[in-house]
Amino acid sequence: MSAGKTTKVLFASSEIAPFAKTGGLADVCEALPKALLPLGVTPTLCLPLYRIVKEGGWDLEVVIEDLPVQVGDDEIQADIHRGWLTKEIPVFFVQRDEFFDRTSLYGTPKGDYFDNAQRFAFFSYAVFALSKTLDQRWDVIHCHDWQTALIPVYLKTVLSDDPLFAKTKTILTIHNLGYQGIFPAETFPRLGLPSQLFSVEGLEFWGKVNFLKGGIDFADQVTTVSPTYAGEIQTPEFGNGLEGVLKTKASSLIGILDGVDYSVWSPENDPHLAAHYSSDDLSGKRACKEDLLKRCQLSHDLLERPLLGMVSRLAGQKGVDIICEVVDKVMAAGAGLVILGSGEKRYERLLVQMARKYPQQMIVRIAFDESLAHQIEAGCDIYLMPSLYEPCGLNQMYSLRYGTLPVVRRTGGLADTVVEVNPKKRKGTGFQFIDYHPDALWKAIDKAVQCFANRELWQQLIQQAMAQDFSWSRSAGEYLRLYQRLTKRG
Ligand code: ADP
Ligand code: GLC
Repeated sequence: MSAGKTTKVLFASSEIAPFAKTGGLADVCEALPKALLPLGVTPTLCLPLYRIVKEGGWDLEVVIEDLPVQVGDDEIQADIHRGWLTKEIPVFFVQRDEFFDRTSLYGTPKGDYFDNAQRFAFFSYAVFALSKTLDQRWDVIHCHDWQTALIPVYLKTVLSDDPLFAKTKTILTIHNLGYQGIFPAETFPRLGLPSQLFSVEGLEFWGKVNFLKGGIDFADQVTTVSPTYAGEIQTPEFGNGLEGVLKTKASSLIGILDGVDYSVWSPENDPHLAAHYSSDDLSGKRACKEDLLKRCQLSHDLLERPLLGMVSRLAGQKGVDIICEVVDKVMAAGAGLVILGSGEKRYERLLVQMARKYPQQMIVRIAFDESLAHQIEAGCDIYLMPSLYEPCGLNQMYSLRYGTLPVVRRTGGLADTVVEVNPKKRKGTGFQFIDYHPDALWKAIDKAVQCFANRELWQQLIQQAMAQDFSWSRSAGEYLRLYQRLTKRG
């Protein structure tokens, strides 16, 4: 790269907010490109054209029709639409209705779509077909999770002779090692990869195909989303079988903490809230609590009692089982509980059953509801995030900004962002526990409830929490340095 030129980075992701989101990956792929723009990066984004995007009323323009995408022996066509994240950041949407015009992104409550391997291999190839048609020479392609993990593999194998990509570097960011894109061996021949890659040195993993493993092997740089998680995933407890592969990359594996887009998540100007507030004037927070209690038809008495909240994908990772085991104690302490989530049926059922026992104090809303998510962050006093593991976690950082003190398990990004409260010193921003056990969780909740009872202390803690700064600017700078280092390597 010569001086004065910007770094051209293509973000290839299966989720980008506000277009398509199931979790934090979408938030990151919206916020990081925005934060990189003022640092001299020219970001371009690429996302499948899901049904939810089609129905989202976005201003999209068809820019390429019938783009041939060669996936192994099959030629499959795609139409490319262009939209804009901001007026400087284009988003290319890959349309192939057979793959993406479906009710969800990855599957239904019954399970994953049967052809996810083909869907995302196709998307990954489409990124290259699109780049060629646009004649775009990317400095870096930044891939995210298993869905785009084949991009580094294709680049270094089937496309290794293509002059357009000769200088392109790839980064794979692992947002969650719990999802690796593992498929039966029979899928391999349909991926358009040389057969020798179905081996231990390549994508083979216990007789199956593992997309993420391929990405880890072939990417020029692997990152993950918090420093603590970067260390954890090199151990058998958190490595999900890939700890060995990750260890071989240890010298270059880095954890860069996700950030918060405070233009979306700030109680001072959040359009979803009944009232606005800041750490100097918390009266609006009380109004938000009153509004939330009303919306959820919970007892008005809870206005003076601690109100606990959670917004989450309902997956094994998130600690729903230990929450269910402490609900009776939380209720006996006279606290309230609001949970918004969707995901695995067993957790949905369990939570709904619990809530039926306590109609005045507890509500569970099974939905994906952006507005309610913001209202819970603002209207609650305490936020629950007792995750079994948590690569970074955004909700605890949102909670801090909304003055809703988080109770977290000390793991991954939760360990990196929450400071244990010391009531005597009147310092700290949240409550941590270590053992993944209901007793340990209850102890942390109980401590939070005790602190809440001391109004003056609680106000001081809220103010410290709200003063934390997890804006993207710092982490975006780290990504920039990484891009620069990679592109300099030539
Ligand atoms: P993860 O990515 O593992 O799901 P994060 O804490 O990083 O966890 O990010 C979760 C994001 O998804 C947050 O923006 C959160 O508000 C949002 N979210 C999760 N479940 C829901 C839901 N049911 N309704 C609305 N937003 C949700
Ligand atoms: C994943 C992780 C979460 C992280 C998010 C964004 O979904 O589960 O911890 O915050 O990605 O990086």
